[in-house]
Amino acid sequence: MSTASTRRTKIVATVGPACWEPETLRELISAGADVLRLNFSHSDRERHAKTIEVARVAADEVGREVALLGDLPGPKLRVGEFKDDVVELETGSHVLLTTEAGEGNEKRIPVSWPGISGALHTDDRVYLADGSIQLRVVAPLDGSVDTEVEVGGALASHQGLNLPGADTGLASVDSDDLKWVDFAVEHGLDLLAISFVREASDLKPVIERLDSLDSDIPLIAKIEKPEAADHAEEIIDAASAGIMVARGDLGIELPLSRVPVLQKRLIRAAGLRSKASITATQMLASMVTARRPTRAEVTDVANAIFDGTDAVMLSEETAIGQHPIEAVRVMDRIACETEPDLPYGDWLFGRTDQTGQDVGDSVAQGAVGAVYRLNLAALVVPTTSGRTARLVSAHRPKVPVLAISPHIETVRRLNVLFGVQPVLSEPVEDIRDLLDYCAALAARHGVAKSGDKIAITAGLPEQKLGTNLFEVHRVP
Ligand code: PGA
Ligand code: MN
Repeated sequence: MSTASTRRTKIVATVGPACWEPETLRELISAGADVLRLNFSHSDRERHAKTIEVARVAADEVGREVALLGDLPGPKLRVGEFKDDVVELETGSHVLLTTEAGEGNEKRIPVSWPGISGALHTDDRVYLADGSIQLRVVAPLDGSVDTEVEVGGALASHQGLNLPGADTGLASVDSDDLKWVDFAVEHGLDLLAISFVREASDLKPVIERLDSLDSDIPLIAKIEKPEAADHAEEIIDAASAGIMVARGDLGIELPLSRVPVLQKRLIRAAGLRSKASITATQMLASMVTARRPTRAEVTDVANAIFDGTDAVMLSEETAIGQHPIEAVRVMDRIACETEPDLPYGDWLFGRTDQTGQDVGDSVAQGAVGAVYRLNLAALVVPTTSGRTARLVSAHRPKVPVLAISPHIETVRRLNVLFGVQPVLSEPVEDIRDLLDYCAALAARHGVAKSGDKIAITAGLPEQKLGTNLFEVHRVP
């Protein structure tokens, strides 16, 4: 068992060819990756199945559970294949977006979606390759669209295509996504993210599919459409685990300059509802090629943490970058350096909704508050579903939260929550035994030492109130 990390912010690392070899994945986890994201927009089932297998072994070898997050593509439009995989689009040239099959080139970009000519009008803008390439529609034709390249650049096979403002009429979750849901259940994934959500009801098909498979994989709604930002509160309520501030697509679908304010608003909205938030995309983008990040990137990561994010995410940096391990180490260092200065005291009273009558939430807040008055070394939270750990984390305790559960799924899922160190425990029936066991685990995992005071929150099942017990315990 590895010793307790002092970092509270969680690191999500996207898996790709740059890190999916067993040795690299092991190093990635050792360096601090808490959640591994499998991006279902890339690679096939066999490849992802292999990654899952390798990741579980790697985590086992490192001695720390990690969460595996499956990311459903949703209705993201993509370009087809190019000869030699990449084309260079020249500024000022004309390019035809075509629904006809066949290989593309610098004059002709295949797009498999038949609705494209109907959805676009003269002078609409089309963005490619994460918005780095901009096209202007000259004329929609029958089955194709004539465009002029306003901002040129390199475009690779299968890169994304954004039509901001256009109503594509595509379902948020289609049959391909549902097959990935089946895959996620079959392979025991720990979290599922849903792309391009527009409103809360877009999560329904996934929730129903999971129900039909008797699965309760927690959901993360990716906020990357203006409609989603407008409906953020309902979406957060509907997404059992929380949200991702998906700045990549958000910054194309909305003016880029609105991203910082939205990021703050979304993280705050998730916090108010005691749900997790992941801040994503381009956090250390220069590290795709460079060994060191820019000052601006380091500051961006730190600022997301000050905004109250639970987790910071790496995408290309770890999936296809040249320095995947170093990128995780850099994030780890930024988080550790930033966290002592977070406004824990303000967060205790202002971060979450204070109006509800929820017993578990009230006990959680009481426990987090007691840390200051009683000088507690740690909070220990025995949890079945993980709910109590989430409620405690939402109040942002200044000390480690050891979440213990006899359910391996719960342990893994909790890896996305700020400040929570999840560990697998024995099932303990008797409540007195459980409290003693909690104190022993706190010592064993290095969050408290003999003589320290800790607080334990737990639920007495017969009361049916959830977490209703709070005990201060001296570690023997
Ligand atoms: P993606 O989502 O990497 O799947 O596109 C994140 C984002 O858009 O920021
Ligand atoms: Mn996206």
